[in-house]
Amino acid sequence: MLRVAVAGAGFMGTTHAQRWAALPEVRVVGVYSRTAARAEALARPSGAVATDDIQSLLAMPADVVDICLPTDRHADVAVAAFAARRHVVCEKPIALDPADGERMAAEARRADRLLLVAHVVRFWPEYARLREMVLGGAIGRPTSAAAERLQEGPGWVGDGWGARAAGGGPVVDLQIHDHDFLASLFGVPRLVQAVGGDRHVFTTYVFDGGAVATAEAASDMPRGYPFTSTLRVRGDEGVLEYVFRAGGVRPDEAGGLSALTLHPDAGAPAPIAVPPGDAYTLQLAHFADCLRRGEPSGVVSPASAIRALRIALAARAALDAGTAVRP
Ligand SMILES: NC(=O)c1ccc[n+]([C@@H]2O[C@H](COP(=O)([O-])OP(=O)(O)OC[C@H]3O[C@@H](n4cnc5c(N)ncnc54)[C@H](OP(=O)(O)O)[C@@H]3O)[C@@H](O)[C@H]2O)c1
Repeated sequence: MLRVAVAGAGFMGTTHAQRWAALPEVRVVGVYSRTAARAEALARPSGAVATDDIQSLLAMPADVVDICLPTDRHADVAVAAFAARRHVVCEKPIALDPADGERMAAEARRADRLLLVAHVVRFWPEYARLREMVLGGAIGRPTSAAAERLQEGPGWVGDGWGARAAGGGPVVDLQIHDHDFLASLFGVPRLVQAVGGDRHVFTTYVFDGGAVATAEAASDMPRGYPFTSTLRVRGDEGVLEYVFRAGGVRPDEAGGLSALTLHPDAGAPAPIAVPPGDAYTLQLAHFADCLRRGEPSGVVSPASAIRALRIALAARAALDAGTAVRP
């Protein structure tokens, strides 16, 4: 039985606690929130112990501490969890400062514990399949990509802790998913440029070897605009495109869209069937499996999470400076 203590009972703490509770051979034993009532509300359904004291959460008999706190709290809590010999799954971004990310990775090594940073897009079945197909040569040599990540405002970003001081702002907090995913396809960009503002940003990347990419991230879409996440990769033999929309394009349309399509230069477009799955569940099940095998994740490493953070910080520096920045 894997015992999990969840630090955070907000949006992500709730998402993780519910997913953990549904996994076999896993028990949520504790929940922390700054507000006792919030911790209690999330702890109750799984019979976990609620606390508003992070030290008591870390003292609970648990195998894993799952950190779903504002990003500026990740490093200190993770380091304390490693000192208590807990494994750690931690929401993205790993931290706000790469030095803190390095500190987390070093403490995990020193304590001989595993650290998984929850870059959930890597576990999203269609994204994972797209990546597998690109790396497997399905569109030849990838030459460019375009990504979108659009959510209605004000969302969690910008007004509360998601603002720069505690969350890094959208180019870090929201767009890190695309920085990470594009880096997983093309490597670390040689140059990053970003234009726009703190709530709506357009980032461009130039990679060694000549590939280029763009990513748009918005947390200012009008109320009711469906969460939208897309990725189109152009190769010298075709295009792979994934489109996810949580709702219809028009308000009178029902449902959403999740479609991965291969458009070869020679041949007809083909929908790619991907077995459905909830990325948050798959991510935590993956970590549980890593722990059972005693092996670090082959999908997301502390190093790849730090790499994504460095790219995010370069994009933010480029946004501020109005010039291209080398990550
Ligand atoms: N992967 C994804 O799709 C995704 C999506 C959203 C967020 N995230 C990441 O998940 C993390 C948490 O975000 P969230 O949206 O879940 O935040 P949230 O809803 O605001 O919840 C934050 C939790 O941390 C507690 N907290 C707030 N400030 C604190 C402080 N200074 N010290 C200690 N605890 C504090 C809150 O307690 P009270 O509410 O009781 O005050 C609450 O339990 C962030 O790193 C964010 O980037 C990831």
